Amino acid sequence: MSDLGSQEAKIRSAASAAEVDALELEIFSRKHGALTLALKELATLPPAEKVKKGQELNQWKQTLTDAITARRQELSAKSMGALGSDDKLDVTLELPPHDRGHQHLIPEFIRQIEEVFGRMGFDVAEGPELETEENNFNKLNIPETHPARDSQDTFWITDPNEKLPPDKRYVLRTHTSNMQIRFASTHKPPFRIICPGRVYRKDSDATHSPMFHQFEGMMIGKDISLANLKGILVTGLRELIGRDVEFRFRTGFFPFTEPSLELDMLWQGDEKDSKEGRWLEMGGCGMTHPNVLKNCGIDPDEWQGFAFGFGVERPLMIKHQIPDLRSFYHGDLRFLRQF
Ligand code: PHE
Repeated sequence: MSDLGSQEAKIRSAASAAEVDALELEIFSRKHGALTLALKELATLPPAEKVKKGQELNQWKQTLTDAITARRQELSAKSMGALGSDDKLDVTLELPPHDRGHQHLIPEFIRQIEEVFGRMGFDVAEGPELETEENNFNKLNIPETHPARDSQDTFWITDPNEKLPPDKRYVLRTHTSNMQIRFASTHKPPFRIICPGRVYRKDSDATHSPMFHQFEGMMIGKDISLANLKGILVTGLRELIGRDVEFRFRTGFFPFTEPSLELDMLWQGDEKDSKEGRWLEMGGCGMTHPNVLKNCGIDPDEWQGFAFGFGVERPLMIKHQIPDLRSFYHGDLRFLRQF
């Protein structure tokens, strides 16, 4: 027993956790542990002694287990304490700023568009970028001979010279106006929708890209007027651009609206331009043409409304004074991190 007694003393004065581990093994190891061997010896003792010795050994087992646990705790508390004084670790030091990613400017702006128009009662509708000639042109009252259909402007997926019906000929949609047809053909008025998405045209320079984003709006009801259109657009765009931009409505022409208007915003971001800035075309709008309603199965004598289609990149260029639209797509982190 004195053997176990000296083990207890050793545990209490062990200098490290490793020393405690070694002592634990010396005592409790299944094969050679001092206590294990002593317990085995019990079997050889006469019954009376066996009981007494057994109780004694159990007592030791408890004492030594407790001593090991206690010493481990002491040593661990000691080393934690040392962190503050011995180690050169200052837990109050500020970490270098963590580089968190964020959403790209364009999806972020689309989310805001959905939110701002959503507050004015507009639902969000989405549709395919691969569209039939029928939905992209024909049903929008765009005549067969309209220059926008020209292969100079449109990415045709089906050979435009191939004699196929318009619902079998495909293009990459040239505008989000295809969504007017898709939604109006499948929903009963009144409704108001906003449809953001990618569109494609054969264009490429500082203010044009072959792929860009638009958001379409359409509101059909009983007494919708041009005044509603202007009010909703200006309210929405002011909120989105976030400052007092100047707008200018001009008369325009689109086969799917009558009358049609174009909306410009004043851009002062480009040093090459004069101090007065430059009027940039944002998109078109107008009162939905009766033929479009008819093509969607809506009675134009009963219902009327407006539609608009705007670029996403252009207002962002104005908002952030970005001179070249192509910067949006280059993935240059020096550009993207600024927003
Ligand atoms: N689709 C037209 C364009 O891309 C914009 C537009 C949409 C005009 C809706 C009027 C109404 O230029």
